[in-house]
Amino acid sequence: MRAPVMAAPTIRAYALDPVDERRALVEGLLAPHASISPKYFYDARGGDLFASICRLPEYYPTRVEAAILERHRLALRDVVGTRKELVDLGAGDCAKAPRWFDLFAPTRYVAVDIARDTLARALPALAARYPAVDMHGIAVDFSRGLDIARDLRGSAATFVYPGSSIGNFAPQDAFALLRSIRAHCVVAGSGLLIGVDTKKDPARLVAAYDDADGVTAAFDRNVLLHVNRILGTRFDPEAFAHVARYDETHSRIEMHLEARVRQAVVIDGATRTFEHGERIHTENSYKYALEEFGAMLAHAGFGGVRVFQDDERDFAVYYAA
Ligand code: AVI
Repeated sequence: MRAPVMAAPTIRAYALDPVDERRALVEGLLAPHASISPKYFYDARGGDLFASICRLPEYYPTRVEAAILERHRLALRDVVGTRKELVDLGAGDCAKAPRWFDLFAPTRYVAVDIARDTLARALPALAARYPAVDMHGIAVDFSRGLDIARDLRGSAATFVYPGSSIGNFAPQDAFALLRSIRAHCVVAGSGLLIGVDTKKDPARLVAAYDDADGVTAAFDRNVLLHVNRILGTRFDPEAFAHVARYDETHSRIEMHLEARVRQAVVIDGATRTFEHGERIHTENSYKYALEEFGAMLAHAGFGGVRVFQDDERDFAVYYAA
């Protein structure tokens, strides 16, 4: 029998407008309530720190989601189906791809992520390991909606969006993203498999985002080094403390960097003073009740929503057709 011929993975990069990106970053930092978009967490060191977070005892989402996928593998294969195009949203280093291949035996794998270099490193190794699967990478920031129809084959597609990354969007933006994913599900048999963190004891949530070893604190502070490289600023990460709090009203974990001392930072020619105790908001991570997220999927136009959980109901994996 002849070995399958491996085609080199292709990558399409949708360039961001660096001027717009820089302007938004500067505006966020100079605003009265300073903020930095969480997308700036993920430089090379931030990616490594996030991988370490996923292994922390306090950070349950990665572990529990993996356990749900394992426990319900047969039912999932049944509802999702096999031998389709698989679109991995936020694929990063494609570490989860073998799991999708094992579960759903896709004919084509499309990895979508903001980090072009990470995709370019990961895809060739994956292609060598799975020569029968056609592979394509798309480097795009889909935080303002997904528009990748021309990169797809127009056949039935399974979109996967694991890890509760949807929780990093405000609910109205999460809804807009779900609608744009739904708009790509044009062929019968298409659907979305998505992992979502659930509401739970605030003390457990805070511990998950403020671990004892300080890995999440290092991840949070590292964003300032990334900003320094982009804007030429001179933020001192050690001059800021990592703060994680649960906001009951919005059902979200908030991460902030709190100035340990009064300090001034020159940002794009303007001097921004951070008072002692003043915070830079770096991330929200929304938590959803089962019925809340189910309703959001239904409003976004999905049907036949199925949900899979662990016994403690710490996390939920939805399949929405
Ligand atoms: C990527 N995202 C789903 C993570 C979360 O749980 O919101 C990011 C993270 N921030 C701190 N820890 C993990």
